[in-house]
Amino acid sequence: MKSRKILVTSALPYANGSIHIGHVLESVITDIWVRYQNLNGNECLYFCADDTHGTPVMLKAKELGIEPEELIKRTREEHIRSYSKFNINFDNFYTTHSDENKKYAEDIYQKCKEGNLIFKKEIEQFYDSEEGLFLSDRFIKGTCPKCGAEDQYGDGCSVCGTTYTPDDLVNPVSSLSNSELTKKKTEHVFFDLPQMKDFLENYLKDLALQDPIKNKLNEWIEDGLKPWDISRDKPYFGFEIPGEKDKYFYVWLDAPIGYLASAKNWAENNSMDMNDLWGESSDYEIHHFIGKDIAYFHALFWPALLKSSNIRLPESINVHGFLTIDGEKMSKSNGTFINADDFAENYDGELLRYYFADKFNNSIDDLDFNEDEFIQKINSDIVGKYLNIASRVSKFIEKNGNSLSANLDEDFIKKNLAKIDEVIEHYEDLNLSKSVKIIMKMADEVNKYINENEPWKSSEEKAVEVSSTAINCFRVISILLNPVLPTITSKALEVFNDSATNDFNNIKDYLVDTKINPYKPLLKRLEKAKINEEIEMEDSNLIDIKDFAKVELRVAKIVKAEGIEEADKLIKLHLDVGDLGKRTVFAGIKSAYDPESLNGRHVVLVANLEPRKMKFGVSEGMVLASSNDEGSIYLISPDEGAKPGQLVK
Ligand code: MSP
Ligand code: ZN
Repeated sequence: MKSRKILVTSALPYANGSIHIGHVLESVITDIWVRYQNLNGNECLYFCADDTHGTPVMLKAKELGIEPEELIKRTREEHIRSYSKFNINFDNFYTTHSDENKKYAEDIYQKCKEGNLIFKKEIEQFYDSEEGLFLSDRFIKGTCPKCGAEDQYGDGCSVCGTTYTPDDLVNPVSSLSNSELTKKKTEHVFFDLPQMKDFLENYLKDLALQDPIKNKLNEWIEDGLKPWDISRDKPYFGFEIPGEKDKYFYVWLDAPIGYLASAKNWAENNSMDMNDLWGESSDYEIHHFIGKDIAYFHALFWPALLKSSNIRLPESINVHGFLTIDGEKMSKSNGTFINADDFAENYDGELLRYYFADKFNNSIDDLDFNEDEFIQKINSDIVGKYLNIASRVSKFIEKNGNSLSANLDEDFIKKNLAKIDEVIEHYEDLNLSKSVKIIMKMADEVNKYINENEPWKSSEEKAVEVSSTAINCFRVISILLNPVLPTITSKALEVFNDSATNDFNNIKDYLVDTKINPYKPLLKRLEKAKINEEIEMEDSNLIDIKDFAKVELRVAKIVKAEGIEEADKLIKLHLDVGDLGKRTVFAGIKSAYDPESLNGRHVVLVANLEPRKMKFGVSEGMVLASSNDEGSIYLISPDEGAKPGQLVK
């Protein structure tokens, strides 16, 4: 029995451009939540579509010399391909230019009319007589009335930041034809939003929505709602308004209705009654995921439309902030714009999901993408912590005929399992960064456990026990990370012959005394690809402090140094590293030093180097030395007084 039924949407991207990684942020957050819900025993469906109507689409099609229908068809195919590179698992990615959407838009409009919520009023609008087009604010340019900056758009000045209407512009012209504008009277259709004031106030009380947004909306309501202009005059690409001549529904009227159309289209293809999915009587919860720029539309106009037509209202609107690139607003002219396809050409799109999840905490704050940080994050967490577990221990299980030990360190496993509920809670609350951080802490602890138990040094039986314990934890981590990294974790789980991937419910079972499959490496460390060449022009071999901080240097005391008979270059060093305990390091310094002479000497150790298995044993780090062209070697030592274990930085 699935306990909850949930219907989820993310905002419909405009069909006049490509998908960029800001869109991807939104779909990734949504998709992680949807996958989490399904894994956690609920039924969760994810609907989206292209937002196809409006003037920009019409103009772009004209520019390309094709019909708008052809443009939106191509764009939709492109969008679907782009999203798939990030493993976004839509149940339906539809279009607002569909029969279903037309029908819903007309029906809802009719219901609003019956509810006396529709009226007509004459307004005056700027008109480009050369193009034969009424112009919205963004197609009007002129001189800023405040600071005198030229070529500013009709809604505000990009130089001094003043916001205004096109009426305030000095010398307004059309940005399409550059011709002077005239004012022309025209009759528009309005939705009488002020009538919905009481309903909206009450609805907002119950709606799950972040507080800052809720407060803003309540302010707007208090300041007085205004009727909403829902019509546009011909020529326009959209649906004609029934009963009117040459008038079309404004794109923002039929855009959210596109959520319904996408669900309806899916219902029909899956022999389901739309009434049970998203009708009056449906028992599906409804959750929208949107960016903060469109909260007004989703939390005021949209519920008002639904209410007027007796359609089920959403229980939550999850608002996220904007993605910035290197701290800057995404902008093509600044070189701070990353197309989804460009990203996916350079890196596996799935990895961006992890980067976003690690940063997203369900706040409306902006979230930054930085390529170096991305690479560092993936290398340190996914390669260095998570997958590292399997690559470190699988060889010991392989040696045991791929069989897991019958004895596990249950205390250690249970300590890890105890954190699962918390991970799940944070997923539920969309606090993805907290989920991910707990999971990585688990991975850290497993790695520490391996370090401490040193399977490469212990008896075969002990090595298999330690490795089987670690790989069981690896299984738990893989399942928990599955919503974030669906492909990588599914491949990782192929190590185990169970079907745990599709259910959080059997995470807690552990596997003993059974066969598993050998682990094959799943991901190499990332190298920088430079997605945006321009940004990287000043790139050099400089590293930043974070890169340096990754190397853990410690003072170590050579307790004993012994030469190795069969190796003419190597000295085996037994080191005391203070709190970090004892380490064994093989150093290629025999040509320069007599082992005896090294006893008691202090050196500098790279303490967090991956242990390396050598012919004569495992080397657990590296001591620093300098050498010249002649092959002379000089060990690096701290000044008198430095104690073993002390950090070097
Ligand atoms: N078509 C409308 C939405 C209609 S929904 C009924 C629209 N389209 S959009 O393409 O401009 O944006 C789609 C979604 O992506 C919105 O939720 C928007 O907030 C989000 N984002 C657009 N740019 C973004 C970033 N740079 N960062 C994060 N989200 C971004 O609005
Ligand atoms: Zn200005």
